[in-house]
Amino acid sequence: MRIAFFSTQSYDRTYFSQFNNGHELVFFDAQLNEQTVELARDFQAICAFVNDKLTAPVINQLAAQGTRIIAMRCAGYNNVDLAAAQANQVAVVRVPAYSPYAVAEHAVAMILTLNRKTHKAYNRVREGNFSLERLTGFDLHGKTVGVIGTGQIGQVFARIMLGFGCRVLAFDVIANRDLEAAGVEYLPLIKLLPECDIISLHCPLNDQTKHIINDQTLGMMKPGVMLINTSRGGLVDTRAGIEALKSGQLGYLGIDVYEQEEKLFFHNRSEEIIEDEVIMRLMSFPNVLVTAHQGFFTDEALTQIAQTTIQSINDFEAGRPLIYKIG
Ligand code: NAI
Repeated sequence: MRIAFFSTQSYDRTYFSQFNNGHELVFFDAQLNEQTVELARDFQAICAFVNDKLTAPVINQLAAQGTRIIAMRCAGYNNVDLAAAQANQVAVVRVPAYSPYAVAEHAVAMILTLNRKTHKAYNRVREGNFSLERLTGFDLHGKTVGVIGTGQIGQVFARIMLGFGCRVLAFDVIANRDLEAAGVEYLPLIKLLPECDIISLHCPLNDQTKHIINDQTLGMMKPGVMLINTSRGGLVDTRAGIEALKSGQLGYLGIDVYEQEEKLFFHNRSEEIIEDEVIMRLMSFPNVLVTAHQGFFTDEALTQIAQTTIQSINDFEAGRPLIYKIG
């Protein structure tokens, strides 16, 4: 099949070329939207990423131009108009799960960095500054860690923190019995928040969880708490987070996702004037660590994303059932 890739980065080219088995792959740097959809003319398959805009007009035009399958190379599909895809008989597939270890381990990396300040130590030593002043951290052993959302990623994260000798508390709409057996205690959110030294978010973004971290919930936390968000930016009311950082209620903040990330992440903006004053304010705090949605970014996860996507397209071409079809 001819497959058009949108929002392509160098690593997409590398991994998809490696696992391709006979398809014609054409990589476009452009985001897929109403202005760029013409590029996909005569491609039976298109492969898109989180911020591509698969609106009804885009899907209508794709279908008219010959596209029969949309393969999302990610788990989320909130930018895909599924009704339009169905109306045009265009199949939509995704990669629902890829290495939960990648994201869980990145959350742990953020905790260790914020705590032991290795990012600062690295720069200091390279400049010949061997002082330890203001690099004091704390033992993770014996601390209480709260996990909000104990699905695939949250449970891996909880087990890693148990391994550090932490007391692990969890909040989820469904308790995981295996985790309870391993020593994790489930509590209602309002009981969990005041107990924790570290809180890590691993639930999806939906109507119930939007701004789950807000003025009120931040106020229930232990003063000086560490908050980690590797899940979705919209879980945290960023304005409330900034106020809590200013007052010291929030002692550390590590985010791999950000409410307005769409305009910033995945591109080199180092030569541009960044107009987003909220992210600039966040980055001005010495106790804030921001990474640009790289939780998923491991060799294993990229391999799984490429293999699953190619497999779905192979299945579609061969008329086999699509395991990862959406809608
Ligand atoms: P999952 O679906 O396996 O687990 C989500 C868990 O959250 C489930 O146990 C569910 O019951 C729970 N949950 C749902 N609604 C809740 C609520 N209102 N309150 C508390 N818990 C609730 O998802 P998985 O694979 O563990 O992924 C979690 C999130 O991680 C994803 O939704 C995504 O936003 C994020 N993610 C981030 C990546 C990154 O690169 N930073 C990459 C992949 C996923």
